[in-house]
Amino acid sequence: MDSRYQVADTSEIITPALLIFREQLEANLRHIVQIAGGTQRLRPHCKTHKMSQVIALQLQLGITKHKCATLAEAEMLAEAGVRDIFLAYNIVGPNIRRVVAFCQRYPDVQLAVTADHPAPVAALGAAASAAAVTVDVLLDVDTGQHRTGITVGPAARAIYEQIARTPGLRPGGFHVYDGHQHQKSRDERRVAVLAEFEKVLAFRDELVAAGLPVPKLVCGGTASFPIYAELDDPTIEFSPGTCIFNDAGYTEMFPDLEFRPAALVLTRVISRPTSDRVTFDLGYKAVASDPPAGKRVSMLGIDDAEQVLQNEEHLVIKTAHAADFEPGDEALALPRHICPTSALHKEAFIIVDGKLAERWPVVSRDRWLTL
Ligand SMILES: Cc1ncc(COP(=O)(O)O)c(C=O)c1O
Repeated sequence: MDSRYQVADTSEIITPALLIFREQLEANLRHIVQIAGGTQRLRPHCKTHKMSQVIALQLQLGITKHKCATLAEAEMLAEAGVRDIFLAYNIVGPNIRRVVAFCQRYPDVQLAVTADHPAPVAALGAAASAAAVTVDVLLDVDTGQHRTGITVGPAARAIYEQIARTPGLRPGGFHVYDGHQHQKSRDERRVAVLAEFEKVLAFRDELVAAGLPVPKLVCGGTASFPIYAELDDPTIEFSPGTCIFNDAGYTEMFPDLEFRPAALVLTRVISRPTSDRVTFDLGYKAVASDPPAGKRVSMLGIDDAEQVLQNEEHLVIKTAHAADFEPGDEALALPRHICPTSALHKEAFIIVDGKLAERWPVVSRDRWLTL
């Protein structure tokens, strides 16, 4: 077993448990700052961890700009002392009044949201101006992921102009998330990312020439932020998320990115139902199930583990070494996708220098806190 992930005494750890190896986490945070060339253009995404204490570590490093996907995360960030929050999500329905309530409760926080359609822009503007608050709105630009956003062009320009003239709203720039650019080769990724980004820059220049302010471009995630970081433009910000903890998926997909697994799930053997099977308390209520069955974790130290069955509270592996395991034996699993895994845990157990040091609540795993 890798000595970085040894834990001296696990008797107080109820499994399945999310363990955070603090030295690895801090190394990842420092590496993010190093790749970004400082903290000025960094805006990490908190969806990966959803924990105030991780935000506190980032603030200590001088990372003052933060990104989130839910109002619960925004509330957690504000309570942790963040004053520049980008809620990178299109605001509809009851979230319109929640955004307004957020601005009223935290008047010293600069809050930005996204939009890609005229109707929510109008609704948010009406609610914000009625409450005498101002919300920054970034145009959500689609550069090929086709999840949200609008491609650059006349319709996108019309929405940006609408944001600029709507009382209660302020044009905040563009949101450019390119989570589909997952080429394994950094060079191929760079060519693909920059080909799309050139169109975004041309669009930005067009709007600026028309007198519209485009103060920032919030771009990319783990795979593309090193590419944006190479560009010499102070208005570009980057928002990596997954690499804060890293996971089995990104370790395999992006060998060029030297991040370390910092969050693993401790699990115990509960049964050895056949001569070649071992069952762990590691169902898909403890690790994310969006990766395909059979690939949801990597079991440290059990190299031949074949994940043959997973239910809510059980993971059955097949291994030639099954006879070596007894009920109660422990193993560490590196999740393939850490972000939804964190959200499945109420608290994380923090390991420092090989010992359980404290527990951190996964504050914004809930969809709403108080707002
Ligand atoms: C809008 C947005 N920004 C940033 C990120 C962070 O990307 P990554 O997890 O690849 O670092 C994500 C991830 O899902 C995202 O959806």
